[in-house]
Amino acid sequence: MHAIIGGSGLAKLADLKLERREVVRTPYGDPSCALSFGAIDGAEVVFLARHGYGHTIAPHQINYRANLWALHHVGATEVVAIATVGGIRADFGPGALVVPDQIVDYTHGRKGTFFEGDAPVTHVDFTEPYAEPIRARLLAAAAAAGEPVAAGACYGCTQGPRLETAAEIRRMERDGCDLVGMTGMPEAALARELSLPYGVLAVVANHAAGLGDSRRAISMAAMGVVMEAAMVRARRVLAAYLRASIAAGAAR
Ligand code: HPA
Repeated sequence: MHAIIGGSGLAKLADLKLERREVVRTPYGDPSCALSFGAIDGAEVVFLARHGYGHTIAPHQINYRANLWALHHVGATEVVAIATVGGIRADFGPGALVVPDQIVDYTHGRKGTFFEGDAPVTHVDFTEPYAEPIRARLLAAAAAAGEPVAAGACYGCTQGPRLETAAEIRRMERDGCDLVGMTGMPEAALARELSLPYGVLAVVANHAAGLGDSRRAISMAAMGVVMEAAMVRARRVLAAYLRASIAAGAAR
């Protein structure tokens, strides 16, 4: 079964034929919301809104462990996460869709592992943080849907909830980051610890701080307008992804 984690701007999946909701309790506390089960174009899907259905949970307060554990517990076999991001690379302007392939983690104080306490110390390989087959299928789906999507980018994950300073973005650029968001970690690492294949479709809402039309400030109003239009395209890519996955017999 496919799991979809929706971020800002995607608290509900419009295309989802909702069959039931389930509140899952986990050893790590409560997930962001009840899980929604249903179908999109015939593909069985479980959906979770990362910030809660009312968008009430800040990035640093999300219980990433409970979210991933719950999805795994109900039988998800892969996770596609939608991430709202700022664009650092010059060609990643507002509205761009990107499938990242790398991560730099700038967060702190988040509970980022299942392997502590009574669990034995375990080091997972994280060289390639995203599942390549999911990346490839997302890109193929985008091509099939006629939506331009950039292949490959480094996602820098900041702590939030405030946006970055211009100097922080310059540093991230020097570090090789192409995108900046607040929720990519520890989500991706926890998925890896559960051996859950995980990929991201990133939606660029704005030029990152100090860049392009965000040179002096980031306009929240402009961000909202961009996201509304871009999420329609992201949903199209997701639907094509799920259709192709059914055809390929993946993630049953
Ligand atoms: N920075 C961090 N997270 C974001 C941004 C940004 O500029 N835009 C959307 N999410």
